[in-house]
Amino acid sequence: MKFGYFDDLNREYVITQPDTPLPWINYLGCEAYFGIISNTAGGYSFYRDARLRRLTRYRYNNVPLDCGGRYIYLRDDESKQFWSPSWQPTRTEVKDYSCRHGMGYSVIGSVSNGIAAHTRYFVPMGENLEIWQLTVTNHRAAKASISAFANIEFCLWDAQDDGTNFQRNFNTGEVEVEDGVIYHKTEYRERRNHFAYFACSRPTAGFDTQRESFLGRNRGWDKPAAVEAGQLTNSIAHGWSPIGAHQVKLELEPGETQQIVFVLGYHENSVDQKFDPAGSQIINKSTVKPVIAKYLDAVEADAAFERLRLYWESLLGIFQVNTPDIHTNRMVNIWNAYQCMATFNMSRSASFFESGIGRGLGFRDSNQDLLGFVHMVPTRARERILDLASTQLPTGGAYHQYQPLTKRGNNDIGGGFNDDPHWLIVGVSAYLKETGDWSILDEPVPYDNEPGSEKPLYDHLQRSFAYTLSRLGPHGLPLIGRADWNDCLNLNCFSDTPGQSFQTTTNKEGNVAESVFIAGLFVLSGQEIAAIAKHRGLESEATGYLAEVAKMEEAVNQYGWDGEWFLRAYDDFGAKIGSKECDEGKIFIESNGFCTLAGIGLEDGKAAKALAAVGTHLATKHGIVLQQPAYSKYYLNLGEISSYPPGYKENAGIFCHVNPWVMIGETRLGHGDQAHDYYSRINPSAREEIGDLHRCEPYVYAQMIAGKDAPTFGEAKNSWLTGTAAWNYYAIVQWILGIRTALDGLQIAPVIPKNWPGFTATRTFRGVVYKIAIERRGEGSHIALTVDGAPIEGNVVLPPTDGRKLVTVKGILS
Ligand code: BGC
Ligand code: NOJ
Repeated sequence: MKFGYFDDLNREYVITQPDTPLPWINYLGCEAYFGIISNTAGGYSFYRDARLRRLTRYRYNNVPLDCGGRYIYLRDDESKQFWSPSWQPTRTEVKDYSCRHGMGYSVIGSVSNGIAAHTRYFVPMGENLEIWQLTVTNHRAAKASISAFANIEFCLWDAQDDGTNFQRNFNTGEVEVEDGVIYHKTEYRERRNHFAYFACSRPTAGFDTQRESFLGRNRGWDKPAAVEAGQLTNSIAHGWSPIGAHQVKLELEPGETQQIVFVLGYHENSVDQKFDPAGSQIINKSTVKPVIAKYLDAVEADAAFERLRLYWESLLGIFQVNTPDIHTNRMVNIWNAYQCMATFNMSRSASFFESGIGRGLGFRDSNQDLLGFVHMVPTRARERILDLASTQLPTGGAYHQYQPLTKRGNNDIGGGFNDDPHWLIVGVSAYLKETGDWSILDEPVPYDNEPGSEKPLYDHLQRSFAYTLSRLGPHGLPLIGRADWNDCLNLNCFSDTPGQSFQTTTNKEGNVAESVFIAGLFVLSGQEIAAIAKHRGLESEATGYLAEVAKMEEAVNQYGWDGEWFLRAYDDFGAKIGSKECDEGKIFIESNGFCTLAGIGLEDGKAAKALAAVGTHLATKHGIVLQQPAYSKYYLNLGEISSYPPGYKENAGIFCHVNPWVMIGETRLGHGDQAHDYYSRINPSAREEIGDLHRCEPYVYAQMIAGKDAPTFGEAKNSWLTGTAAWNYYAIVQWILGIRTALDGLQIAPVIPKNWPGFTATRTFRGVVYKIAIERRGEGSHIALTVDGAPIEGNVVLPPTDGRKLVTVKGILS
């Protein structure tokens, strides 16, 4: 069952019924000011950091779901009926409901009582504000008198504090209202020099800033007393719960359309110019007023929207493909790239499944996110790399997370996830391959943000690699530390206390438990750093890395091979995990995916065997599960992985993030059909028809689909913020379509399904547009390339040396 449809031409997903199985969300903003918006206008906004600078309040886990938002109410001032064009929060029946989620904007609306109303929500480029353009049309034969109400509830900035510290917070709330603009200034009197504002383009018939005045006592958002009465009360909040509500009266002739623009924004003043007049407690509004005035103008708002549209057109234009598979095209050309922007911006902080409070930006996560993002805005990727590396510890280890506002490593979670440092090498390598900007390696970057500790970024990569060399276990495999990629394989934790964090509890020495996954990652990152060293002329250093890689491969072959697949790990007792000898958890996806992706066992048949075993034991029609058999009970020596009921999350769920590793492994074996088949099983667009089972948005990947051991097999959870976005993008674009960035040029090595006659693509790479056409003439993956008509050796197209900006590449597959 479907709940909408793809409008590929407009790059939108159109939701046609408001009661989707879960709120289906979109993100507003792609730079510093962000919002989450659901298909019924729920969600919240923040500046840079979803925890520390939250503008509007949201109630997680409430009923009905998705409570708090950018709500519009319309009231027929004659019949006194009122409703929400976005369905929530009144949930009054509406006609012709639609929500168009597009690239950085959403348009939500419907028709009710002969009145059509749609609101377009977006964040203009370069601004810290969001625009709501409400368009109301009278489809009645008679004149209509309508009151339009727009409402938000302010959050008292730190979302964690806002949701818990009521004894203080009920006393701190402060607002100002001037010229029809509502300013939220809680704590501005003391240490904050920022405030929020909510403005309206039309003269208002009233406002409210105190929640209780607007809602009335004991009422919810579905039935605000002031809306019901048809008159806001001009309340001024002193403490309690500041809100922003505007009322505009519209007189609409038959057929007439009118527009109101609302602007919700964030503004900072310099510390010495906070107040006007100086010495007063009144916000100095001189720098914000021009911004507000500008965007309340519908012409300016339209122009800002057009700029946003063009921005996305140019970002998505960097890579476009036309294959015989519509789901591939749609995800690669539109939604997967778009999701990569969201994961780049949010890491794993703010979504419908991530509260924005608990997690900052992950070191591992943000490095991997670069794989799907770096081609779009390399300058921001560069900045991110330097920020991440600045939190790295002198040991080469890493804080697992950092807070985006402060850019400091998060001490609460700490470090000791022994895979973390290698992802920096992977991320930097992706950046170098995309941009050819070698200067980044010479950037001075501190350790642990400590002034004076700056070393060139390259030094950080060296320490990342060395980190593992001084942390090898009894079999010469990397010690796992707190966990590796699998945050839930906590082999040094042994937690028997309820509520204790698996992420931070370590009560074993950690000198025994080893990870075959990190071994695979080490082999990959070793190859990458060796190539980088070689490029810098450091031949012997490169040779040294490759020697370590060879040793690690040897260790994997000797101690990490189980006969038919790669082992997953050794636990604290030195016992095998992910072996045929185990009762449960005999085979895991991560080590098999990553070792083959990294090229281990390609020559001696191990890779082929391992992936065949993955196909036999782990692949299902909804994707590849993480391990089998699922753990049926809690194992003290394994940690969080066995805390999940079978089939969910890391305990044999279809963890979509790791499926692409197998896809890439399959391409390395030349198995295009198998790779694309796996790709299609978790492709959300290809799952659109089973929306009632899948339940999450059909336009973005979810982190997890319940595995075959779960009663809800096939149901997705944790949509949007997941490494799945970057990895699937990377797998399909760089390995299946095979248009792959390399240090010296653009490699073209497709491994596509046998029944594809070929495909065409356009790729802008280092300032040059490559028009690529692949034609299949045989069943294999051997490619013969011509560049601007001339055949070339090998499969790497070198950047033109004669200033050409357009290059035509033809590839014949046989
Ligand atoms: C989840 C992991 C996640 C971790 C982060 C665990 O509960 O299962 O997917 O990485 O929490 O803290
Ligand atoms: C989600 C986390 O964000 C990621 O870092 C981790 O690798 C996976 N869960 C698997 O545990």
